[in-house]
Amino acid sequence: MALGDYEHVWEPATEADAPTLLLLHGTGADEHDLLPLGRALAPGAALLSPRGTVDENGMNRWFRRLREGVFDVEDLVERTGELAAWTGEAVRAYGLDPERIVVSGFSNGANTGAALLLLHPGLLAGAALFAAGAPLQGREPAAVDLSATSVFLGSGVADPITTIDQARLLGRQLRERGARLSEHEHPGGHQLAPDVLAEARSWFSASGF
Ligand code: MLT
Repeated sequence: MALGDYEHVWEPATEADAPTLLLLHGTGADEHDLLPLGRALAPGAALLSPRGTVDENGMNRWFRRLREGVFDVEDLVERTGELAAWTGEAVRAYGLDPERIVVSGFSNGANTGAALLLLHPGLLAGAALFAAGAPLQGREPAAVDLSATSVFLGSGVADPITTIDQARLLGRQLRERGARLSEHEHPGGHQLAPDVLAEARSWFSASGF
């Protein structure tokens, strides 16, 4: 895995001793989409924002799906492994503190962030995931230890794409594996609700990454 294997944006930290935010965009977006989110969530942090390598009818994604809401779980596992390896490569190339990488993602990127937590525990210090569901769909994730990991989940109770049941299932999977979990539900749909973003920002600054 080489740094150039993913198109990406890298913005160095603007504050000394700041963590790095790994930003994972939603379906059809690209590596520029979540930069404003990253700056709002973690002012001063370094931003590492790759572009998903799956092309679904011209839309960038992180893994294949059979149709909306039905994932190709084999592909998800394989590509999440590639992304984990690439993140390690970026840590070396940019001289990052490997203990202070936090992922944030929306929708398909949030599902991928959840898969990174469950399949590659130890890679990330935390996660702020918006519209994330249980990524392994019907498979119970391995009994990994996430007790050193802080996770914020922002979910819409009226989300028709990531249903609230899927979001709550992810919450249960993370909690059962010891993650320090902060769950926030808003009345809306598949979106990054401003109130939830404000709560995520408070969570980030209180988490001490
Ligand atoms: C996914 O495919 O990860 C979810 O259905 C959300 C999306 O449409 O990106």
